[in-house]
Amino acid sequence: MDRIVVTGGAALNGQIPISGAKNACLTLMPAALLSEEPLTLTNVPRLSDISTMTELLESLGCEVASLQGGRVLAIGTAKISNHTAHYDIVRKMRASIGVLGPMLARDGEAVVSLPGGCAIGARPVDIHLSGFEALGAVLDLRDGYIHATAPKGLIGTTYELPFASVGATENLLSAATLAKGTTVLKNVAREPEIVDLAKCLRAMGAQIEGEGTSTLTIQGVDRLGGATHQVVTDRIELGTYMLAPVITGGKVELLGGRRDLVSAFSDKLEAAGAIIEETPNSLIVSRKGDIIHPVNIKTEVHPGFPTDLQAQMMALLTLADGTSVLEETIFENRFMHAPELIRMGADIEVHGGHATVKGVKSLKGAPVMATDLRASISLIMAGMVAEGETVVTRVYHLDRGYEHVVRKLSACGANIERISE
Ligand code: EPZ
Repeated sequence: MDRIVVTGGAALNGQIPISGAKNACLTLMPAALLSEEPLTLTNVPRLSDISTMTELLESLGCEVASLQGGRVLAIGTAKISNHTAHYDIVRKMRASIGVLGPMLARDGEAVVSLPGGCAIGARPVDIHLSGFEALGAVLDLRDGYIHATAPKGLIGTTYELPFASVGATENLLSAATLAKGTTVLKNVAREPEIVDLAKCLRAMGAQIEGEGTSTLTIQGVDRLGGATHQVVTDRIELGTYMLAPVITGGKVELLGGRRDLVSAFSDKLEAAGAIIEETPNSLIVSRKGDIIHPVNIKTEVHPGFPTDLQAQMMALLTLADGTSVLEETIFENRFMHAPELIRMGADIEVHGGHATVKGVKSLKGAPVMATDLRASISLIMAGMVAEGETVVTRVYHLDRGYEHVVRKLSACGANIERISE
């Protein structure tokens, strides 16, 4: 297994291009199942999760052409020749559940493996399933698979999500575009990835109102056409790299960055000591002086502080000149980076959904283990400022969500390399 070796001490200066959003791509790609005409996506990030979704779509009968080194995906679904999403693919990536809605809407049938949990939580899909039942689907859960049918097609309805689940919102939104009549989805997620999906579906001919608010109204249509859609900038990668010059010192320009994608995070980063300047097509971030100030964080659904940036923020706050409290309200087990940061000398106490971080003068490099995607990058952030060498193992987690992380950080002066074994 590969590992990443970081030697701390270098301030970061330079430019980092921000890629297209993994979490937008993983819901845009299944949308190609809704139409017989091709869906072309541009600004696609080159990540292992995208390859996994490509593998899944091809197993269903899609033709996926990867162009310009993977930056452009042209996905054609003249026919869905196989309606079963197998466990061996779904278990690798939970977002695979996102093929359920489009297949059900297009052909009235879908068999999708239950995704199972992951390191950060049980990750149930009950909201997805109750939403599909509200749309008239008949679901039978057996032998670890969801067997879904809608012989007369999906029927528009009003459904209120018990929790503003991102994945459930995306799955139900996609399905409702081909349902008969009007569907009103209440208490939906408002993340930028939902807005991006709605834009793409509308380009395909869907009739959607309300994206970015808590209520989506979809007027079903008989069929959808093809489209070409540019994937929105990855706000989680953006936030991650905004934090890098604040933890190491220096000044970094994030190309493609927009503050509206990360406003709650930016407010907290400024409170911790960041200076954030916005240009027409980038954000320029630096640190005010040498002090990192403590801040309290509570992760919430958008537009609140994103859970996917909690681990990165914790790495920064380990060096604050005071005590910070981080409350994780979205996932039940998303502090696994804490024990690894403690190995580097951080002073963190975790009690249930709260982590209390007492700032220390410095961190020490150490061998650490990545446990999930966002935990892995938080260890790299800490390693860039720790004294000595930090070796991060299980970096396959990183490859799921961060394109060319070593190249992007070393281009700004980080002392970082990847050792392939
Ligand atoms: C998406 O996951 C993202 N993944 C996650 O990013 C992100 O952390 C999460 O949204 C929250 O913003 C993708 O977009 C591929 P949820 P998703 O459904 O859709 C509970 C990353 O690091 N829930 O909003 O799975 C669930 O258990 C990943 O890029 C139910 O109870 O998130 C969790 O506690 C990690 N029943 C909470 O809701 C359901 O049916 C949030 O889940 C669905 C969810």
